[in-house]
Amino acid sequence: MPKAVRRTFVLATTPVVLAALLGATAPRSAGSPGVGDPYFPLSGNGGYDVRHYDLTLGYDPGSGHLTGKAVLTARATQRLTRFDLDLSGLKVTGLTVDHVKADHRRDGQELVVTPRRTLHKGQWFRVAVTYSGTPKPVTDPDGSLDGWIPTDDGAFVAGEPQGAMTWFPANSHPTDKASYDFTLTVPQGKTAVANGVLLGERTRDGRTTFRWRQSEPMAAYLATATVGTFRTTRYTTRDGIQVYDAVDPREADKAASVLKQLPSVLEWESKLFGPYPFRAAGSIVDRAPNVGYALETQSRPVYSAAPDLSTLVHESAHQWFGDSVTLTSWKDIWLNEGFAVYTEWLYSEQHGGDSAQKTFDDLYARPASDGLWAFPPGDPGSGANIFGTPVYARGAMTLHALRTAVGDPAFFRILRAWAAAHRYGHATTAQFVRLAERESGKNLDALFHTWLYTKGKPRTP
Ligand code: ARG
Ligand code: ZN
Repeated sequence: MPKAVRRTFVLATTPVVLAALLGATAPRSAGSPGVGDPYFPLSGNGGYDVRHYDLTLGYDPGSGHLTGKAVLTARATQRLTRFDLDLSGLKVTGLTVDHVKADHRRDGQELVVTPRRTLHKGQWFRVAVTYSGTPKPVTDPDGSLDGWIPTDDGAFVAGEPQGAMTWFPANSHPTDKASYDFTLTVPQGKTAVANGVLLGERTRDGRTTFRWRQSEPMAAYLATATVGTFRTTRYTTRDGIQVYDAVDPREADKAASVLKQLPSVLEWESKLFGPYPFRAAGSIVDRAPNVGYALETQSRPVYSAAPDLSTLVHESAHQWFGDSVTLTSWKDIWLNEGFAVYTEWLYSEQHGGDSAQKTFDDLYARPASDGLWAFPPGDPGSGANIFGTPVYARGAMTLHALRTAVGDPAFFRILRAWAAAHRYGHATTAQFVRLAERESGKNLDALFHTWLYTKGKPRTP
């Protein structure tokens, strides 16, 4: 057989032979479009883990235009011929995988990437995405705005539960935590504040660039890059935490007396929960009347108006519960909100206010028809309910019921052990129940079943 013919034969049959060999047992090689969260099925993506995000952004508050370059360092957790990132809106102008141009297409919030060469399981790779456009917030199932939210002088940026994808391509589910570098350029006179430590700031040709580094692992929903006209303050606490505050001058008078209590609040919480998890701290107060909530953005919460002390205590408590110890599924949101609210109760109790028992009793006195009992906090039912009163208040009541059952020494041991066992990691409600049983030596199934999972008002307090 002449060589040329033979070569044709080989080329024509090899794919067929391969397909036959692999057949139905071929490994799934496309990363899934979500991580399987029942409340937010398209959040996050399967097949890889991001280790680091390097985000370079330019924002012009006048036009609302954002230009971005995101470089993700990730590791394939399976063989990957294709994988997704989450990105909502914006225009992708370039995309490479390991410096080689990669095919990509948009499909709703999915940015589908087909690298030139298949990634093998365990392989480290780098994805670089350049993009631009006018970011638009998403509307959450509960009707609230989420993501990059323009304000009259910049943008309020908060991403719980799904808003990160409105300003950078991400594996946007809490199960994937990573470190972050931010290089943010804004017109001179504006300030761009992200998470972590300020590495430097420099002005050139009428624009100022701020470089921030969040070294400890962070879920995408906790990232911020809030832009505005701010008064800024920097100092270091007795414990060596680097504090940076950015405050909208219109909120400054009201905010001042609360923000200056941050070091003492963090110290008090460190005594209860163990060491503060991050090297940086601070507050961003950015007037945003259409937002109406605060978010525990990692190391430096954002407030849409001057917070009261209880709110500062709440967002600070989230640094342990939510940010350091992070959810595995949005259904477990009471692990964030119940703990942050219960910290408010403890703060009041230990600072001359109502006891936690009194707060619990007042809530328990509400009639069975009250919204507090609308659904059980351990099973909110849908993404529309994750920030509902039962999650916050009955979540905190669950912890109080636990405290009553096990006594103060065991209860405070449980809180510390929880923060320590999952520091910088992830956790589930089932793990909390097991830990509480181990620390207290009690069987707590009935208690948690009643408070977390039983519909309606529990029959006994
Ligand atoms: N975790 C925030 C807090 O407890 C609430 C965030 C609400 N987000 C939202 N999209 N509604 O303070
Ligand atoms: Zn909260």
